[in-house]
Amino acid sequence: MIPEKQIPTTAFVVEKPGAPFVLQDIILDEVRANEVLVEMKYTGLCHTDIVVQQGAIPVGDYPAVLGHEGAGIVRRVGSNVKDKSLQEGDLVFLSFSSCHEESCSPCSKGRNGFCDQMTSINFAGARGLTAAESPISFPGGSSIRGQFFGQSSMSKLAVVDERSVVKAPPGCGVTVEDMAVLAPLGCGYLTGAGTVFNVLKPTPKNSFAVIGMGAVGVAAMLAARSQGVETVIAVDIVDAKIELAKSLGASHTLNTKSVSDLAQGLLDIFPDGVDCILDTTGVVPLLEAAVKALGHEGTLAIVGVARAGSSLKIDLLKLMMGCQRVVGVIEGCANPAMIVPQLIDLYKQGKFPVDKLAKIYAPADFEQAMADLHSGSIIKPIIKWADL
Ligand SMILES: NC(=O)c1ccc[n+]([C@@H]2O[C@H](COP(=O)([O-])OP(=O)(O)OC[C@H]3O[C@@H](n4cnc5c(N)ncnc54)[C@H](O)[C@@H]3O)[C@@H](O)[C@H]2O)c1
Ligand SMILES: [Zn+2]
Ligand SMILES: [Zn+2]
Repeated sequence: MIPEKQIPTTAFVVEKPGAPFVLQDIILDEVRANEVLVEMKYTGLCHTDIVVQQGAIPVGDYPAVLGHEGAGIVRRVGSNVKDKSLQEGDLVFLSFSSCHEESCSPCSKGRNGFCDQMTSINFAGARGLTAAESPISFPGGSSIRGQFFGQSSMSKLAVVDERSVVKAPPGCGVTVEDMAVLAPLGCGYLTGAGTVFNVLKPTPKNSFAVIGMGAVGVAAMLAARSQGVETVIAVDIVDAKIELAKSLGASHTLNTKSVSDLAQGLLDIFPDGVDCILDTTGVVPLLEAAVKALGHEGTLAIVGVARAGSSLKIDLLKLMMGCQRVVGVIEGCANPAMIVPQLIDLYKQGKFPVDKLAKIYAPADFEQAMADLHSGSIIKPIIKWADL
């Protein structure tokens, strides 16, 4: 029996910026009216976890429990959650949180990734701005920042903001075993696929290039292919990623190690320029090359986190005369409640084979999982909580 209050569990805690993730005993507060207790089955690791562990996004307190690609089983439902169908035992995917208010223009249009409150809700914690308001504490009583992205899912049990919860649709056939590869739907895969579905919207005959074939880039390529886009150029600097992209449907590939000028490399393939480009690297010279390679009315979407203060040299006149756009995209500009079921469906049809990207790790091998994510040797490490 899980107690009503003071629920003991175990989580990876980051003591202060730059400190490692350490597995520790923690205590969860009670589940409030608009919250859900989730027993985590799997949690994917995303670069944003590393960025925040290193203290590079200065919003929110430490110590902190991070993790924002959780998937698991509902163990308790708050007394006033909006989704009245949500029950104990439901399988759920956890995603980013947004305000969901009618008064918020992006949320009211289902473009929740652009919610006005994204930074405060997701980075500081859904309950409030300080660790003191968090549902997590050490057994001694001192507070730990929680509800990172509404969830803090690097934890065996978590008190989750209901706005982060997406129930696996009844009849979709998802099992706990599927969660081993689908846990990252809530961030990495949603970001790549959402940018394709909601922002770039390529037609089958459009040319499409993805720079950086990590979790976000491969998800974008798969999403484009699932919509019938015939020509997808996959760009990376790691041979193994280029090979994987080819095996998953890239029609052309470019390795930035071997092309001295990426813009020229892209224009050699498409002399009229590229219709849609997605950059997931945040590397400034690659972004500049991408702008140069855009075709008439072409769009460059940027999701990779560039270093603070970095700036682009762009020929504004060419951009204007070519009717081109450069857009930053947060979380695929998506509504998780819409896109997660859509991606589950594509996965079940074999059109979104993200199982090819995942490697499962026991919590005891967490350091290795982080090192593999950091080095790029594994595209998507996923923690299996049953192995704790
Ligand atoms: N905007 C958002 O909402 C959002 C959401 C999730 C992740 N992100 C960010 O998006 C980025 C991509 O995430 P990911 O999980 O796919 O990361 P990743 O590290 O797995 O992917 C990046 C890819 O870029 C490649 N790359 C790096 N330098 C390169 C170069 N010079 N030339 C060619 N390829 C190069 C790497 O080899 C890698 O395959 C990260 O910065 C992450 O923090 C943003
Ligand atoms: Zn909003
Ligand atoms: Zn993420």
